[in-house]
Amino acid sequence: MSRQPDLGVTIGRGLTLKNPVMSASGTFGYGLEFAPLMDLGLLGAIVVKGLSLLPSSGNPPVRIVETPCGMLNAIGLENIGVEAFIADKLPLLKTFNTPVIANIYGKTRQEYEEIASRLDSEEAVAALEVNISCPNVKAGGVVFGTDPRQAHEVVKGVRKNTGKPVIAKLSPNVTSIVEIAKAVEDAGADAVSLINTLTGMAVDIDRRRPVLHNITGGLSGPAIKPVGLRMVWQTAGAVGIPVIGLGGISNARDALEYLLVGASAIQVGTANFVNPTACIDIVEGIRAFCIKNKIEKISDFIGSLETA
Ligand SMILES: Cc1cc2nc3c(=O)[nH]c(=O)nc-3n(C[C@H](O)[C@H](O)[C@H](O)COP(=O)(O)O)c2cc1C
Repeated sequence: MSRQPDLGVTIGRGLTLKNPVMSASGTFGYGLEFAPLMDLGLLGAIVVKGLSLLPSSGNPPVRIVETPCGMLNAIGLENIGVEAFIADKLPLLKTFNTPVIANIYGKTRQEYEEIASRLDSEEAVAALEVNISCPNVKAGGVVFGTDPRQAHEVVKGVRKNTGKPVIAKLSPNVTSIVEIAKAVEDAGADAVSLINTLTGMAVDIDRRRPVLHNITGGLSGPAIKPVGLRMVWQTAGAVGIPVIGLGGISNARDALEYLLVGASAIQVGTANFVNPTACIDIVEGIRAFCIKNKIEKISDFIGSLETA
């Protein structure tokens, strides 16, 4: 194949990406931290750290522990707050030729709605990713994401307060991911992203103490990829909106696995801590795979898994 493959994908209304690779919230700072390491313009999109209405210092340390094939974190959504993001980060972020997706988080439905409304007037924000799945905070987060009715209400409230594409970020800590995905689709979400972290725990037998100050944390990294793949496959087969897949993607083959089972795009999280250029390496790896396999458009590969 002499022509370059078309890696472009569309996620819901009006959000077109030059390739399907995004950074995952909370693992890529506010994007700018990675600018010295790569051309941010080569990414499909940048998803920034979860933003709350007011700045938050998160949980006390210890907040991170390495586990076999992954890590547990209990950061508790430390962030600079939505106003500081708009004033201090967005002006520079928008100079890179890449859509910026704001991940948002509230302790109450009203807080989600206020943040959504505040960001709605910011032209440089391409879409909102609504985190209803953080396992490390006492209020909000996963409480909304594990109950279909509450998930519906939060997304409906955000939908009313923004004209931007709304992506609902779902928790794997549920019995039926499809039930939650359908509830947020029905509430007007343009896409869903999954999975957030799986609740886990680490203990120290010498001190007889939990390792994390928060006691429990969210498991991420290669260990969770099979769970993410299964949930993306189930969800993509059950909803009519695009599914963004993540969980344990470390290289282009992992990313392609998610695309194969039906993800319209993917996000790279924990791998950024191991290899800061993982996102760019994955874009290049997907391109090389397409060239080698004569795939002209990545959209032809998406969801092409054969199970019969
Ligand atoms: C240190 C850390 C911080 C995170 N912060 C957020 C966050 O602010 N908002 C959010 O929606 N997800 C957050 N996540 C979840 C990731 O975006 C992602 O869903 C999860 O880590 C699974 O992907 P991975 O295995 O590629 O890391 C965080 C994950 C980690 C490891």
